[in-house]
Amino acid sequence: MATKLTGSKTACVIGGTCFVASLLIKQLLERGYAVRTTVRDPDNLKKISHLTALQSLGDLKIFKGDLTDEGCFDEPVSGCDFVFQLATPVNFASQDPENDMIKPAIQGTLNVLKSCVKANTVKRVILTSSAAAVSINQLPGTGLKQPLLLKECEPFSTGQEAFFVEVMVWIKLSGLDPIFWDAKT
Ligand SMILES: NC(=O)c1ccc[n+]([C@@H]2O[C@H](COP(=O)([O-])OP(=O)(O)OC[C@H]3O[C@@H](n4cnc5c(N)ncnc54)[C@H](OP(=O)(O)O)[C@@H]3O)[C@@H](O)[C@H]2O)c1
Repeated sequence: MATKLTGSKTACVIGGTCFVASLLIKQLLERGYAVRTTVRDPDNLKKISHLTALQSLGDLKIFKGDLTDEGCFDEPVSGCDFVFQLATPVNFASQDPENDMIKPAIQGTLNVLKSCVKANTVKRVILTSSAAAVSINQLPGTGLKQPLLLKECEPFSTGQEAFFVEVMVWIKLSGLDPIFWDAKT
């Protein structure tokens, strides 16, 4: 059984309609966290029905948020202790992954991080990614070399290299303390 928090901590989950988010939000509520989550279309009641159902477990507030809309995460992130950034454009059939997936992922992550800095209450930011971001490359074997993943592995594409460099530089400058997490682990 989950251990409940005694004091109230607040976590924001960016991308409440993600597969991973539904499990994460349930576990956070069961552990006593107040939870905010963002979805692109809060008026799509069918799509967020699992979230409204989870509201019976605890304090869960649903906000509108799109990765491409700078500033839209200020309100949900304000006052939060923890922020999980899960939302990412997924389109494996895209003919233009650079513009359809990589650029909005970079911009969206930076938008979330900017809101975290503005909030001035966020203690930890958790950015999800996938092992595929570094394992699909030209290196022999798995290409995975823990723990210096970012330094030693050839990224999947120049776009992803740009993502890592831009986000890491920004994180250094902002003083935030992120965790890079492959959601399957
Ligand atoms: N699922 C896995 O097995 C797995 C494995 C390894 C890593 N991960 C990582 O875990 C994270 C979540 O994965 P997932 O599989 O749970 O995701 P998912 O089910 O594919 O959902 C993607 C989410 O991103 C949102 N999104 C897309 N574009 C957006 C935008 N412009 N603004 C705001 N939201 C946007 C989608 O919102 P809409 O519903 O509005 O489209 C949806 O909630 C990702 O970082 C992924 O790389 C997942």
